Amino acid sequence: MKIRFDYNNMMKEYVGDEGISQSDLTKIRPIIQKAYDSVQNNRGKGMTQWMDLPYSQAEVVDEIMSFAKSVRKKFDNFVVLGIGGSALGPMAVFQALCHLRHNELPKSKRKAPKFYVEDNVDPERMTALLDVLKLEKTMFNVITKSGSTSETMSQYLIIMDLLKKAFGDKAKEHIVATTSQDKGNLIKIAKQEGLKTFYIPDGVGGRFSELCPVGLLPAAVLGINIKELLRGAASMDRRCKVKNYKRNPALMAAALQYICINKGKNISVMMPYADSLKLMADWYCQLWGESLGKAVDLDGNTVYVGQTPVKALGVTDQHSQVQLYTEGPFDKVITLVGVENYRSQVTISQGCEDFPDVSFLSGHTLNELIKAEMLATEYALTKNRRLNNLIMLPEVNAHTIGQLLMFFMMQTAYIGSMLNIDAFNQPGVEEGKNATYALLGRKGYEKKAEELQNKKQKSDKYII
Ligand code: PA5
Repeated sequence: MKIRFDYNNMMKEYVGDEGISQSDLTKIRPIIQKAYDSVQNNRGKGMTQWMDLPYSQAEVVDEIMSFAKSVRKKFDNFVVLGIGGSALGPMAVFQALCHLRHNELPKSKRKAPKFYVEDNVDPERMTALLDVLKLEKTMFNVITKSGSTSETMSQYLIIMDLLKKAFGDKAKEHIVATTSQDKGNLIKIAKQEGLKTFYIPDGVGGRFSELCPVGLLPAAVLGINIKELLRGAASMDRRCKVKNYKRNPALMAAALQYICINKGKNISVMMPYADSLKLMADWYCQLWGESLGKAVDLDGNTVYVGQTPVKALGVTDQHSQVQLYTEGPFDKVITLVGVENYRSQVTISQGCEDFPDVSFLSGHTLNELIKAEMLATEYALTKNRRLNNLIMLPEVNAHTIGQLLMFFMMQTAYIGSMLNIDAFNQPGVEEGKNATYALLGRKGYEKKAEELQNKKQKSDKYII
């Protein structure tokens, strides 16, 4: 059940001069080895504690599984309140490993609560959610590492108020908090309210948190085998610990993208050929964008580095984006994610015999069609000298999803080190968060509010 990383079509031999040569790789070998040493020598330290998650959570996994069992018994809905790294991982794993129409299935077939992630503060969305939930049958999971993100805490305030109005002292039985053990407001609130709490380890940042209780609790509630998820992550981690970059998928993938960035290929398209992996591309976009998009490197130099992640879905976006990928500017690297064995097989029915241009499809399966279309896209991209690579999953299951998550996180850590940046902070996001606090009058943000008040006012002459 090993996922494979195929980078043939990144190489000059396949895409011509746009591509990467063996000597391009050899030239950056010192950078690759330095990144390897830096990542592996520091693993588990600082903000890289996520690397230990596949191995370090036996106790918490048991606690999560038993709590999840009780949630499944009592509740019909499980709602995550969170945003960014506290939402995208749970959504991606849900989409990958649950029935694609999970919420629409009858309860007897679902065997787990309906699942919602409220990762926005659009008032219409909140109203719509509340319209479909029966509060007495709903468990909320408020997730925030910092314990103070405005979006998440607003959602919490709204929901807690409703729960208290409905259930008084028993409100706390409908809400579980996942947050830092000793930092931020949510932990203090959770203690005051007597909420069940799971902890996000200190050295695990939002976008690297799917394999800690942030992702494990929702997954376990959904009946996903979280031990298998972690075993998959561990098996990929072992592959990504190999020193020789030619045998280390994440290190090689990072090195190739590093070369691409230096060649001006500033866009990374993630294009899974499976609806189940659609949200994995969203999760990847946050991981790649927030980790690599940095103004300053580790030596304080202004670098304005990064590679813009773009999500696409095969085959859907063949009829939307692929024209651009095939013939537009040579500024992209396209990663196709394929699946060997889909979990269902659908045969295309007989019919339209008088129309051979239609009836040739009959007797084939949708499985054959989607695979043929992926190969065809790969072929067209390559023929047009567009750098592309392929990540192939034998099938989508907890083990391969664990591998995939770890592969991308390790690739991000390695390339961050090659770019000599801090891949684990997000000063640009913090700026926006702080400005929001100031605009809404949070104490301690008076200076920021003043700064905002003094910003250059918009001119009417540019508004029509
Ligand atoms: O990756 C990150 O650190 C961010 O995207 C956070 O996940 C996001 O801002 C939400 O933060 P928090 O979990 O503190 O509410």
